[in-house]
Amino acid sequence: MAPPFQRHVFVCTNRRPDGNPKGCCASKGAEEVRTAFREELDKRGMKGRMRANAAGCLDTCSFGVAVVVYPEGTWYGGVKVEDVKEIVEQHLIEGRPVERLLMPFSRKAQQPG
Ligand code: FES
Repeated sequence: MAPPFQRHVFVCTNRRPDGNPKGCCASKGAEEVRTAFREELDKRGMKGRMRANAAGCLDTCSFGVAVVVYPEGTWYGGVKVEDVKEIVEQHLIEGRPVERLLMPFSRKAQQPG
């Protein structure tokens, strides 16, 4: 059976109380980022082929808003609403990760060899 989605995006929307030293993605606009992914995918008729889901803490809090794209396992950090269109067009549709937003460990994983 084929996987149900061609690309599956998880956006951390975890919220911690104010003052928590770890911070959280919710306080950095994660809900708005998730909504923007859904709207951009809908606009392009990707419903059923690509999906953006809310996720709990992805354990990369200092890089929030944290986003991971499967099946590649590409991790983006510091994602803002204004970055979403670029990720959708360049990565989800054209298959080229947006280098400037990759988390450091994902950057290494993308290099050949
Ligand atoms: S709160 Fe988002 S990665 Fe931990």
